[in-house]
Amino acid sequence: MMAVRAVVFDAFGTLFDVYSIGQMAEAFYPGLGSSIASVWRDKQIEYTRIVTMSDPHRPGGSRHYLPFDEITRRSLQHTLARLGIKDSAAAEQALMNQYLMLPPFPEAADVVRSLRARGVQTAILSNGNSAMLTPLLAHSNMTDLFDPVISIDAIGLYKTAPESYRLVDSQMGHPAREILFVSSNAWDALAATWHGFTTLWVNRQGMPFETLGEPPTYSGASLTRVLEVI
Ligand code: LAC
Repeated sequence: MMAVRAVVFDAFGTLFDVYSIGQMAEAFYPGLGSSIASVWRDKQIEYTRIVTMSDPHRPGGSRHYLPFDEITRRSLQHTLARLGIKDSAAAEQALMNQYLMLPPFPEAADVVRSLRARGVQTAILSNGNSAMLTPLLAHSNMTDLFDPVISIDAIGLYKTAPESYRLVDSQMGHPAREILFVSSNAWDALAATWHGFTTLWVNRQGMPFETLGEPPTYSGASLTRVLEVI
């Protein structure tokens, strides 16, 4: 058990189920839904890394930065082309619209409400820009559950750039170790641990952790684990 001042959640994959989009993809392209969802997600994260890591103008900012909605669209276009899908404009738009309505994991809102009832501050740090996060939170009636909602869009450098995690320090003003950073993305939990946060990796699929870096402070099979560790 530990005392923390605030719990900061990752958004896509942690609070909201990005792979649920496979069901809509399956309806458009039978047999390909889960491939589309998984190639899309991998390519989306790869693109964030390319624009952040490879920009010769870092660290002052990135001139090759594209906001996350545009990264998401371009990674979807690549995914559909790679899977040999043609004439995909209608599906592309439907899937992009659905991305703004991704369902939260079933326990997410209750966990966050319980934290707030205990007087713990709850916030988000996401790669997503406000054009994505605002409708996503509104759609699931979770807008009032997070303050602040921090986006890396403010600096144009994606996770896992150290500057992205420093946004939490500068905007919330707590020592990093007194923040519990919660992510389902192992690479995010790893980099957040390197940053100095206390971390919880939500490992729904029983996957091994990365064989790189130090393990997260905690791990668990769902977001309810947060309520056990603080
Ligand atoms: C986010 C990424 C990890 O929400 O999906 O920051």
